[in-house]
Amino acid sequence: MKDTVQAKVLSVNEFKEIMTDFTNPLEIFRETVQNSYDAGATEIIITLDNNEETKRLDIVIEDNGEGLLPKQFSNFFDLGNSTKRGTKNKQYIGEKGHGTKICYNSDKLVLESWCEGKKYYSEMDMPRYKLTKKSPPEVPSYTKPAEVPHKEKKQQGTRITIQGYLTDDYDSGNDKTFHHAAVKDYLLWFSAWGSVEAEFGSQENAKKIIKLRGVNYDESRDQEKYDFKIGKDGYEHIPFGHRFPEKEVSSTEELKRYAKKVAEGDIRAPLSVKQNAEKYWEKFFAKRIVLDGDVKLGVRK
Ligand SMILES: Nc1ncnc2c1ncn2[C@@H]1O[C@H](COP(=O)(O)OP(=O)(O)OP(=O)(O)O)[C@@H](O)[C@H]1O
Ligand SMILES: [Mg+2]
Repeated sequence: MKDTVQAKVLSVNEFKEIMTDFTNPLEIFRETVQNSYDAGATEIIITLDNNEETKRLDIVIEDNGEGLLPKQFSNFFDLGNSTKRGTKNKQYIGEKGHGTKICYNSDKLVLESWCEGKKYYSEMDMPRYKLTKKSPPEVPSYTKPAEVPHKEKKQQGTRITIQGYLTDDYDSGNDKTFHHAAVKDYLLWFSAWGSVEAEFGSQENAKKIIKLRGVNYDESRDQEKYDFKIGKDGYEHIPFGHRFPEKEVSSTEELKRYAKKVAEGDIRAPLSVKQNAEKYWEKFFAKRIVLDGDVKLGVRK
């Protein structure tokens, strides 16, 4: 038998790599919203706050999903340890066990969970510092999840508190990255919340809602300018699903032209649609939706 050497993983490097492997700092919302969605949440509350004392950005993401039991906290903090792997009959978005590690790019990370009526708590101190310090870097640890007394009405869900998100480059108060409108836009274009399923007749998630409050916007000027509305509770309520402006709905002539292109193979479509496109165009193409240059079919139900 040949001698073999098992390849190993250098945990510090991997955690650090994953923590910084996100090109856009807003990806933290894509990852957490995805997880809340996978946990079956119907309401997510996202609160951003410029911390006066630290001059850094704090983020709280809270959902009413299934929450985590103490033994599941490791899934949240470990790398590559996803509960969702191999669960084929359930349609999860996440499966790699990478997403939450974007939260390590912070000064403190707190995970609270309400599960089966009990509340559990764990915190991780200075994950970014520990992973990036020179002498020598270390994998950050988290406190053992403990049951904590609670009087809240909440019986089920998860709250993630990220204190001091991002490095010193972030200039709280001036940076437009986390402007309310920018975060909203990101959610509707790049997260599970931007699903176009309603355009295809699905009402499955129609009642779900995100309550969002970003930072660095001018309350009196920006709401009209960027078309958002902060309610009396201090949050904008964003219903599930991408909303297309009415002008995207095409004319009959345009739809016919479009059907021809599908039939001729200029636009890719399933074979059954392609073969019947010209004959049954009215049945197939209720709408033409253009997403970032990518054309999707709207199928009439
Ligand atoms: N809001 C949440 N509610 C319940 N469990 C959560 C929540 N967020 C994270 N988790 C748990 O933490 C685990 C790790 O999440 P993470 O996003 O890192 O990986 P993933 O979603 O499984 O895969 P991916 O890397 O593709 O997102 C999840 O598998 C889930 O068990
Ligand atoms: Mg995930």
